[in-house]
Order: sequence, then C-alpha cells, then structure tokens
Amino acid sequence: MTDRVRITDVAPRDGLQNEAALVPTDDKARLIEALCLAGVDEIEVTSFVSPKWIPQLGDAAELLERVVDCKANALSPMCFSALVPNAKGMDRLIDVNERAGFMLIDKVSVFTAASETFSQKNTNASIAETLERFVPVIEAAKSHALAVRGYISCAIACPFEGAIEPAAVARLSQQLLDLGVNEIDLGDTIGDATPDSTRAMLQAVLEAVDASRLVLHLHDTHGKAASCVRTALDMGLRSFDSSAGGLGGCPYASTPGKRAPGNISTAALLEAIDAAGMTTGIDREKLSEASRLAADIVSAASKREAAS
Ligand code: HMG
Ligand code: MG
Repeated sequence: MTDRVRITDVAPRDGLQNEAALVPTDDKARLIEALCLAGVDEIEVTSFVSPKWIPQLGDAAELLERVVDCKANALSPMCFSALVPNAKGMDRLIDVNERAGFMLIDKVSVFTAASETFSQKNTNASIAETLERFVPVIEAAKSHALAVRGYISCAIACPFEGAIEPAAVARLSQQLLDLGVNEIDLGDTIGDATPDSTRAMLQAVLEAVDASRLVLHLHDTHGKAASCVRTALDMGLRSFDSSAGGLGGCPYASTPGKRAPGNISTAALLEAIDAAGMTTGIDREKLSEASRLAADIVSAASKREAAS
C-alpha cells in the first residue's frame, strides 16, 4: 500500500463559505495561487450553488477566470474541483470550462447527507431527492470527462439529529457508487468524530467501498481531528481534506449561538501524516505562506465590514 497521502485543500470553498464578510475575488485568487505553490494535490476552488443560499461564493465564474494562468502553469499536475448541487450548477461549471478552452475544473463534487434534517436544511431536499438531482449532473460530468466526488455530510453526527448510524453511511456510500461517483468523501460536518467513532464508521463503509476510493473530511471542534486522521491512515485511507489556516464550516450546520466549526488545518493534517511516517507533496514554507494569507484575507474582510 502506498505511503503517499493526497491532500485536498478546501479553504477557498468550505473556508470562505462560512465567513460573514465577503472576501474580494482577487483575494480568493491569491489564495488559490498560494495553495498551488504549496503543493497540495487538489484545491476545492468554489461552489456553483445558489448565490441566494451562499452569497460568499457567488463570484465562482469570475474567480475561475482569474486563476486560469495559475492552473495552466502549475509546476506539478493540479486538480481543481468545485461543488455542484443540481443541473443548473453543472451548466454554470461546464460554461466556465468551455470559456477557458481547457479542463480548468477537473472534478465536480455533488453533496448529500446521512441525516434527513441536515439534507433539508442544506439543500431543501430529502436525501432521496438529492440523489435524483445527481443523475443529470453525473451524466453531464461523464460526457465532459470530469471526475465526480460524492460528499456525505454528517457521516458521524448531525447538528440536529445527533449520532448517525455507521450502517446508514455505508448504505448511502453504496448508492453513490451505483450512481457513478469516482470517490466518496465522508464529512464529519460538525467535528464530533473521535478515533472510536471514526473506526466504527469506516469499518461499515469499507465493507461497501475500497479504501482507495474514500476521502475523509474532518472539522476540528474538539482538537481530535488529527487522531482521527491517524485512525483512518491505519485503516488504509490515503486521501484527506483540510483547509489552510483551519478556516471552514457549513453555514447550514450552525445552531443558535454555535457557529459551524472550521476544517482540520492543512498544517495539522500534514503533521499527522508526518507522524505516521507517510509523505505528501507539500512545501512547508509555502504552506505557511498560504495559511497566513488565508487568515489575513479573512481578517481584512471582517475589518472592512466592521468599519462600513
Ligand atoms: P432551492 O431554493 O430549493 O432551489 O435551493 P430552487 O430551484 O427553488 O432555486 C432557488 C433560486 O436559486 C432560483 O433563482 C434558482 O434559479 C437559483 P430565482 O428564480 O429565485 O431567481 N438556483 C441557482 N443559481 C445558481 N446556481 C445554482 C442554482 N440552483 C438554483 N446551482 C439548492 C436548492 C440546492 C439550489 C440550494 O439549497 C443550495 O444552493 N444549497 C447549497 C448549500 C451549500 O452550499 N451548503 C454548503 C456546502 S455543503 C458543506 O459545506 C458540507 C461539506 O463541506 C462536507 C461536510 O463538512 O460535511 C461539503
Ligand atoms: Mg465541510
């Protein structure tokens, strides 16, 4: 089994979708450029969701125009991915690639949840309805040679329903595979995972899906995400999401008085991978620069908003 671990930095998407202040498109482009230089394997650059639901990412097409050179001139192969909830989002994504004249975006990420309540709150649809929406999206992805990631939110716990049965996550994983996704991304949306709950969930999912097709997406509420990474590495997973500076959170996972927590930071993920004796493509110094930039652009946006 390989010791090379794949890192997807989701800061430009998961990181910025939960910030109250709007980050300027140029700052987002600088962050994506910095992440390219840091040597992550994939960057989740934005979302093609409804701007009424996530106004923070309403500039998806404009942003992508600004990162064409960075993708085209990347020193090592770089994968750009973006979230898509429905056929309308897919049309917008395909339009971006057609305008660029090459595969600017390589992968589309559809997203559902193992909790009915969260699914309704996040996408105004039941779990079954989200899967129906994916059919034309995945069909279009295949005909445009795009890879497909299928996210399962609340793979450990739901902010509204509490603990989620591992068997429910395994069943949904099988349904996503049957629909044609290439990989399944298991989201601990509210950062509730412990090594034990991670092991139980992964044991169930691994009965349906090979470890090589699984990604783990941790939020880090209680400082346990790094130990969950270790558990997953021991169980054969080699692909993880994280965000520069630990930004992140789904606005629809927030409950009164409790903002959704950030992702495990890319630096903390790297440390956990190092401690397990495995390797990545990361340049540490450049990652520090990208992490500082992530914090700076968010803080500058918040200050501008407070002053206005
Ligand atoms: P809806 O309101 O039921 O949809 O939302 P609708 O079809 O009635 O459309 C409402 C309006 O949005 C219409 O505009 C549509 O045209 C427009 P109007 O006619 O009123 O002017 N619209 C769109 N515009 C642009 N792009 C689109 C699009 N779709 C509709 N794609 C919908 C349903 C799914 C669209 C909405 O619920 C939505 O966008 N939800 C996304 C929420 C979201 O992005 N959440 C965060 C990402 S998930 C996450 O963070 C978890 C994750 O990190 C893993 C983890 O941590 O667990 C991935
Ligand atoms: Mg997330």
